[in-house]
Amino acid sequence: MNNFLFENKTKVYFGKGGVKEYLGCLLEHYGDTVMLAYGGGSIKHNGIYDEIVGILNAAGKRIVEFPGIMSNPTYAKVQEGAKLARENHVDLILAVGGGSVSDCCKVVSAQAKVDEDLWELENTKHTRPTEFIPLGTIVTVFGTGSEMNNGAVITHEEKKIKGALWGAQADFAFLDPTYTLSVPMKQVISGAFDTLSHAMETYFGKPDENNLSDDINEAVMRSVIRNIRVLLTDKDNYEARSELAWASAMAENGILKIGKVTDFQCHMIEHQLGAYTNCNHGAGLAVIHPVLYRHLLPANTARFARFAQNVWGIDPAGKSELKLAQAGVEALAAFIKEIGMPTTFAELGIPADTDLKAVADSTVLTGGCCKKLSHDEIYEILKECK
Ligand code: NZQ
Ligand code: ZN
Repeated sequence: MNNFLFENKTKVYFGKGGVKEYLGCLLEHYGDTVMLAYGGGSIKHNGIYDEIVGILNAAGKRIVEFPGIMSNPTYAKVQEGAKLARENHVDLILAVGGGSVSDCCKVVSAQAKVDEDLWELENTKHTRPTEFIPLGTIVTVFGTGSEMNNGAVITHEEKKIKGALWGAQADFAFLDPTYTLSVPMKQVISGAFDTLSHAMETYFGKPDENNLSDDINEAVMRSVIRNIRVLLTDKDNYEARSELAWASAMAENGILKIGKVTDFQCHMIEHQLGAYTNCNHGAGLAVIHPVLYRHLLPANTARFARFAQNVWGIDPAGKSELKLAQAGVEALAAFIKEIGMPTTFAELGIPADTDLKAVADSTVLTGGCCKKLSHDEIYEILKECK
């Protein structure tokens, strides 16, 4: 195993009723002004907004609302939030929503503390922010695992880049599976597939050796697959929603990545597809993964064979390593179909005239991928996704 440093500072409050029980006490540790940040309004229809506002009022907090954070949050929205936070001397940002709200708030928290443009600071000067407004997260849809790390994915519309920025890591995160009961099923599945993708992108990273991280990872992947299937026939099943909620955090809280250099090539491709089309993140990944893996398979047949056997339960008897590896990738493709996710860009609703060459050419090539892809090969992969 590679050398590693591991720390995760986010305190997790997991389970039903956690916000009601603990948020009030937690607020005592922060100043008077709380920024309540949320998305397009789902929290106003399912009672979560009223519950949180009631707790903030009871704690005597001044509330500064930051609504309208869109899916695939933009850098312009980050700047709006940072200005609001600065002008109101916000003491705590409470991000209530999914990955989009959480990511936007992580960067708002950092940008509010520096005058310099954060995109330039991080991408040109390669400097990470060190000062933040404290952040807390209340997750209402699972999948990204954003609640337990300090990475954010932000779309810079003028630059046509959907890329990573480093921001605050939440002091605390509430993970209440019952908050997800109002999420449209399509989004629940898309989020869960995102979790599976994070696990796979870590599993196929380097080094390719037997280690504890990969053993845990296989259990996470099997759990996600099993619990997505449970929800397809029993959509309100609390146990399955709980398992998916914790798997979401587990796949992105660093534990599976211990001692590994992660792959994340599929994410890099999907992010640029998102920059050009604003497509749904999990759904974009679902289309790209099998096509990408058919290209990567020859470079790491043994690992794909292990994936087939240990994750998809495919019997190796009578199969060559290559056949077993291929069966694993085809099991993934069949699963994507089974759970009703798109299998082509046409099904995903990507306009036929999307400039896939530009998407390919602007995709970051990752060091952890088992094959060093070229932008031309990524273009071929994108064309095969059509
Ligand atoms: O905006 P509202 O009205 O709240 O509706 C949202 C949104 O339309 C809805 N929703 C959320 N909670 C709900 C609900 N609807 C009903 N009831 C509820 N309880 O769900 C929709 C999707 O929300 P969004 O936050 O956009 O989804 P997700 O959590 O999948 O986040 C996607 C973003 O996270 C980034 C993605 O690229 C994308 O921008 N990612 C962040 C990562 C990270 N920071 O670690 C890693 C990921 O790989 C990913 O890239
Ligand atoms: Zn993702």
